[in-house]
Amino acid sequence: MYRMIQLESLVPETLPGVSLFIKHGDNHVLYKNPDLSFTQWDKERLLDNNVTHLYVKSAEMSIFNQYVEANLAAALNDENLEPEVKQAMLYQASVNYVQEIFDSPAIAIRQNVERCRNLIQHILDDVMKSNGVMPALSSLVDHNTYTYVHSVQVATYSIALHVRMFELSSDELMDVGMGSLFHDYGKVYVPKELLDKPGRLTASEFQEVKKHPVYGFSTLKDLDIFTPVALGIVKHHHEKENGSGYPDGLSSYDIARSSKITAIADVFSALTTTRSYRQALSKESALEIMYGEMDGSFDLQYLNSFRDSLN
Ligand SMILES: [Fe+2]
Ligand SMILES: [Fe+2]
Repeated sequence: MYRMIQLESLVPETLPGVSLFIKHGDNHVLYKNPDLSFTQWDKERLLDNNVTHLYVKSAEMSIFNQYVEANLAAALNDENLEPEVKQAMLYQASVNYVQEIFDSPAIAIRQNVERCRNLIQHILDDVMKSNGVMPALSSLVDHNTYTYVHSVQVATYSIALHVRMFELSSDELMDVGMGSLFHDYGKVYVPKELLDKPGRLTASEFQEVKKHPVYGFSTLKDLDIFTPVALGIVKHHHEKENGSGYPDGLSSYDIARSSKITAIADVFSALTTTRSYRQALSKESALEIMYGEMDGSFDLQYLNSFRDSLN
């Protein structure tokens, strides 16, 4: 198995520490050995040949992720790099990392909590700089990566809306970032066939999917590294303003504001991303659904603020 990486996420003159491959038709062909550095010349030559992505073996993805993260702070501060390139690197790194974490046993989260906080800190800084405008992550989305891309999107939208609406300390924003990044962590415990099912779920299948907030909450709670705010987001991101949500059927004042905000970020991200059963909607169409057929689901004051932030 190979995983696609963006060429932009490689920093010239560094040693990625993994074998890099190029795709020729259906085959992956070795491009560079782990002990050779990736040069500016490599990058330019590949781009000249319209190569925008390279491939890494799945088994080496963890090494590659650590390489990207180690180079990320320097790259984000590099004045010679375009802001769009930096953003692409940041979001690619975040998506890769979320995938690594979701695919590892839960205990890995505790061991890697610093890496996780570092990434959220970078996202936070980026939200401050860019007002919550993200690069199009759509090129990263296929049905295997949806949950990871979605998690990063939700964290970004959620942080941006919190920043817009409230004066929060950096610790509080970190909690919001951790909670929203892991909001769907419980899906790890839901059978993949249900998550990827193209058609409608049966009632009993939907019951199963609906357990993910509680699965996520109890697993993450046991790790003892998440605050009540972050855990609240995980448990209550599917609660609805009118009380028709799950798992607890909470309504309006009983739902924490961070859960309400993440609920908006969650639905907006889901609707504006291509899924196996439909194309991505435009942000206008997504908002139309959120105000229209989903009326009663969201806190209107927050939804209005979110809508205004998109314009
Ligand atoms: Fe969810
Ligand atoms: Fe979600």
